[in-house]
Amino acid sequence: MTASLRPLAPEALTEAQAAEELAALAAEIAHHDRLYHEKDAPEVSDAEYDLLVRRNRAIEVLFPDLIRPDSPSTRVGSAVAEGFAKSRHLAPMLSLDNAFDEADFAEFAARIRRFLSLAEDAPLDFIAEPKIDGLSVNLLYERGRFVKGATRGDGIEGEDITPNLLTLKDLPRELEAPFPDLIEIRGEVFMDRADFLAFRAEQEHALAEREARKERGEKLGPAVTVPVNPRNAAAGSLRQLDSSITASRPLKLFAYAMGQASEVPADTHEHWLDLLRRWKFTVNPLSTPITDAAEFQRKMASERAALAYDIDGVVYKLNRLDWQARLGFVGRAPRWAIAWKFPAEQARTRLLDIEVQVGRTGALTPRAVMAPVFVGGVTVTHATLHNEDEIARKDIRIGDTITLQRAGDVIPQVVGVVDADRPDRGPPYVFPTVCPACGSHAVRENDDVVRRCTGGLICPAQTVERLKHFCSRGAMDIEGMGEENVILFHEQGLVKSPADIFRLQEHAERIRQWEGWGKGAKTESKRVTNLLAAIEARRRVPLERFLFALGIRRIGAQNAKLLARHYHSIAQLRARMIDARVIGSDAREELGSIQGIGPAIATELVEFFAEQHNLDALDDLLRYVTPEDVPEAGETDSPFSGRTLVFTGTLETLSRAEAEAKAEALRAKVTKSVSKKTDFVVVGADAGSKAAKAAELGVRVLSEAEFREMAGFPPA
Ligand code: IVH
Repeated sequence: MTASLRPLAPEALTEAQAAEELAALAAEIAHHDRLYHEKDAPEVSDAEYDLLVRRNRAIEVLFPDLIRPDSPSTRVGSAVAEGFAKSRHLAPMLSLDNAFDEADFAEFAARIRRFLSLAEDAPLDFIAEPKIDGLSVNLLYERGRFVKGATRGDGIEGEDITPNLLTLKDLPRELEAPFPDLIEIRGEVFMDRADFLAFRAEQEHALAEREARKERGEKLGPAVTVPVNPRNAAAGSLRQLDSSITASRPLKLFAYAMGQASEVPADTHEHWLDLLRRWKFTVNPLSTPITDAAEFQRKMASERAALAYDIDGVVYKLNRLDWQARLGFVGRAPRWAIAWKFPAEQARTRLLDIEVQVGRTGALTPRAVMAPVFVGGVTVTHATLHNEDEIARKDIRIGDTITLQRAGDVIPQVVGVVDADRPDRGPPYVFPTVCPACGSHAVRENDDVVRRCTGGLICPAQTVERLKHFCSRGAMDIEGMGEENVILFHEQGLVKSPADIFRLQEHAERIRQWEGWGKGAKTESKRVTNLLAAIEARRRVPLERFLFALGIRRIGAQNAKLLARHYHSIAQLRARMIDARVIGSDAREELGSIQGIGPAIATELVEFFAEQHNLDALDDLLRYVTPEDVPEAGETDSPFSGRTLVFTGTLETLSRAEAEAKAEALRAKVTKSVSKKTDFVVVGADAGSKAAKAAELGVRVLSEAEFREMAGFPPA
C-alpha cells in the first residue's frame, strides 16, 4: 500500500473506508511482524512500523465495532503466523430482540400468548438474567468432557479458541453425570470493571515504556494495545494466538444457555440453570425467576453501578422449555426471550459540520461531524442525522451544542440541540438539492423522506457504492475487491459495471505496471494473481448471494433468500419478473403471494427488471457468473415439503403464526391467495372465499385437525 492511498484523517473516514483500511493494515502489519520476528529482516524502520500501528489504533478507537479478529492490536509478535481454525456451531448462535420500555415488554409477552393461543391474561413465568456485554462462546461437551470451544463468529461459524478457553478457571473440564452424550453450552466471557481498569493501566504503562525505548532508539518488541472498554479487553484477551497470554488475563465466564443437545436435560430454564450449577459452571447469582419485569428492571437499573461488571440490560427468558421449543425463532432472534436495555447513555458535544453521503441507491444521507466525545463506552466523532426532515424538525445547525446518545453497538444518534437560544447562532441548515458526488439534481418523490440523486449510472458515488456492495462479504465476497480497489479500478476506467470485474484479467499487464501492483517489491508481484484468482473463484455462487449482490432496493439478504427459494433459478426469476410487469398477471400474483415479499418490495423488483439497462448489465454478468440453482425442497421429508399452503378462516387450537411457522419449518411455502399452484388449503372456522376457490380449483382442503396430524402436532 502506498501512502498516497491513505490520505484521510481517521476522523474523516466513513465506516466502510475504516473497515477497508483496518483490513489492509492488519495484513500489512502482519507482514512486517513476520519479517521482524521470524525472518529478522525488517523492511521498514521502527518509526514507520509504529506509524502503521498507531494509525490502526486510532481507527480502532473511533470504530470499535470494526475491530477485527485478526487486529494487530490483539496479536503479539511472532504468533501472527496462523489464525484460528473455523468451527461450525451444531445449533446456530442467535441474538436477541431488544425492548426499551414497558410497552415493548408487554408486546413481547402478548406475542408469546398469541403464538401459543393462550388467554390474554394467562400467566407466563420468566427468568431474568443480567445482560453482560462480553463475548458469547459456545462450549461443546461430548460424553461429559469439554472437547471444543468457539467464539460466536457470524452465529453459524466461529473461531476455535479451545486452548484459550481452557485457561478460564470458570470452565469445567468434565461434567458430573448424568449428562447428555453431546451438549453445547453457551455463556459470556467478560472482564470485571476493576480488573479492566488495572489491565488498562498496565497496558498504558507498557505503551509508555515502549515509547521511551523508541526515544532511545532501542528494539521495540511487539505492539501494545490499550483496550477501550471491558468488552474490548475481553475480546482481545480471548483472541490471542498464544494462550499463555489469555491465561494471564483476568477473564470470567457466566454460563446461561443450551445449544444443540442429544437430549434436553431439563424442563424449565430454571432447572437448566440448576443443572449448570451442578456441573460447576458459574451462573450469574442475580439470575432469578420474576413476576414483575418492570420492577426487576428498575431494581437492576439502581443496582447497576454497584455491580462488579458492566451490564447493559436484562435478558428475560420464558421459563418453560417446551414452550420455548414451540415458539422457536424469527429471523435471528428467539420469540421466547428479549433483552430489555437500559436507557441509552447521553452526552453533549459540538456539531462541527454536516456531511452528506450518497448511497448505492442514490439516497443522500446526512451525517454529523462532531468534536470527539465519550459516550456509551467509546469515543465517537460521527453520528447519524437520518434525513433532511429530521434536521429541520430538530433545527440542527452547524456550530450548535448537541445531545447525542448511543445504545449498545448502535450508531450514535443526535437527540437535539442544547443551546438553540444563543444569540450568535448560525443560519438554518440548507439541505443540498444537488448530488454532492455528481452534481445531478437530487429530488424527493411523493412522500419519500429520502432525497435521491437522479444521476443513476453517471453518478460515480452510486456506481462505486453499487460495485462495493456487489463485491462485499455478504454478497459476492470477492477478496481483494474492497472499497479502495473498487475506487481505484473505477477511477482508472477499468471497472464500471459488475461484469467488468470479470474482465479485469484482460488488463492484468496494465495493472502490473502500477505502483504497488507488481513493479516494486517481490511481495507485490502476487497481488494481481491473487486478485484474479479471488475473482475466478466467484464464477459460481449461490443464487441468493447473486440476487443480493445485484443491489436492488429493498432486496436484502433475507429477501434474496426468499426469492431464490421460490424461483429456484436466475432464468426462471428473470422471466417471471418480466411477466410480472403486468399488474394482475399470474406472475405478479405469484410474486405478491410469497410470504415475506410485500407490495413495496414487489414493486422495486418489477421496476428493476423493467429497466433495459439493468437487464443488459445482468445478462452481461451472466456471461461470466453462474448462479447455482436452488433445488426444489425434497418431496419426502414431510407431506408439506415443497408444497404450497394457504391458511384461511380462524384456527381454534393453534394461532395463525404458530401454524404458519410450523408449515414453513416443514419446508412448505405459505402463501396468501389460492391459485392453481396451491397444494393445500387449511380451512378454519368462518372460512370465506378462499375455501370456495379451493373447491372450485380442486385444491385439497384440510381441516385444522388434519393439518395438526400431518404436521406432527399432538392431537388437540
Ligand atoms: S441468551 C437465543 N442470555 O447477548 C439466546 N444472551 O443479544 C441468545 N448475552 O450474543 C443468547 N447475557 O452475547 C443470553 N444472559 C444472557 C446473556 C446474553 C449476555 C449476550 C450474548 C448474545 C447477545 C444477544
